[in-house]
Amino acid sequence: VPGSVTLLAGEPGIGKSTLLLQALWWMADAGATCLYVTGEESVQQVRLRAERLGTLNRHLWLVSETSLPHIIAHVDALKPDVLAIDSIQTMHDPELGSAPGSVAQVRGCTHHLVQQAKARDLTTVCVGHVTKDGAIAGPRVLEHIVDTVLSFEGERHHSLRLLRALKHRFGGTHDLGLFEMADAGLEEVPDPSALFLTDRHPGVAGSVVAPIMDGQRPLLVEVQALVGSDENRGGSPRRCAQGLDPGRLATVLAVLDQRARVKLASLDVHALAAGGVRVVEPGADLALALALTSASRDTAIADDLVACGEIGLGGELRQVGQMSRRLAEAARLGFHRAIVPESAPAAPDGIELVRVRTLPDAIGAAMAHRPEGRRMLAK
Ligand code: TYD
Ligand code: MG
Repeated sequence: VPGSVTLLAGEPGIGKSTLLLQALWWMADAGATCLYVTGEESVQQVRLRAERLGTLNRHLWLVSETSLPHIIAHVDALKPDVLAIDSIQTMHDPELGSAPGSVAQVRGCTHHLVQQAKARDLTTVCVGHVTKDGAIAGPRVLEHIVDTVLSFEGERHHSLRLLRALKHRFGGTHDLGLFEMADAGLEEVPDPSALFLTDRHPGVAGSVVAPIMDGQRPLLVEVQALVGSDENRGGSPRRCAQGLDPGRLATVLAVLDQRARVKLASLDVHALAAGGVRVVEPGADLALALALTSASRDTAIADDLVACGEIGLGGELRQVGQMSRRLAEAARLGFHRAIVPESAPAAPDGIELVRVRTLPDAIGAAMAHRPEGRRMLAK
């Protein structure tokens, strides 16, 4: 949107500069004049990267600069349609007096850029580094100043990257962009569910697939659990959650213990969402509970089965939103059965629903449908 200001936030090294360079190239290729201002790298470094990414374009201009008045002078000279600032933390305005990188500088520079964007109808994108806790002179202080906040996320050691809108003045915040960081930059992931399931080993205890929603996108995610075989001697047992909410894991363990007689209180428990995805919704509760039960009994659950539902403290299963879309995604990827809350809508073609009221019923149903040697096709 002309005149809009977007903050592209993410941890250092996650791929913000790469995404920006590729996005600018698309716009330049469509004829927009783009100015990329880097305060972090030399012009040679960025040009080398652009060469490697194949994103050189005569409409894409590059300058290494950190002084805001100088940047405005470049804007005056070039009159770009799109201005990219990488990163806002490296910019400074001598008029503000405080040290570069300080909250006052970051906020002041952003204010100035917003004014320029509105006055010139200049589309502006600022990169902002956030630390894991999201604090420290970071973009959080800028969220209310800019029009749009995009968060670029992923696990450093996985190639998957997720782009989501946390705030969007000119559109919805439900869209999710999925990319893979490859040798030639970021590539779109056309079929994320299949990607998450490619390395899955069928027939292993402690693995259950959950159809989750991330924004408006249904994703199939493998939830894995491993339970220590020995009673923990002294000290509290380990609780390790990766890609899952530790609070949610604790709650599911407590409900398993109290309502389903699955006793794991004294054992080490590891749980993760495979593939570097972060599950932030309760629809994966049931899959987590079944994975934990399966792990503790060292009994695999049928690999053509998915489970979806929120678990209440009474051990009851609750409906989650967009169930039809979740189940359709599961059916598309070759799953034949789904354990769901009783109130779930009608099944889409190709998948049979096993409706259950409580967690113990769900465990009974999952254990009754044991592997039959039928291999799941994640293609
Ligand atoms: P970068 O865009 O510099 O991250 P940020 O601007 O968020 O700090 O990219 C970081 C990492 O991405 C870098 O460590 C190497 C990797 N990368 C690739 O794997 N492939 C590529 O084509 C590029 C450009 C980077
Ligand atoms: Mg960078």
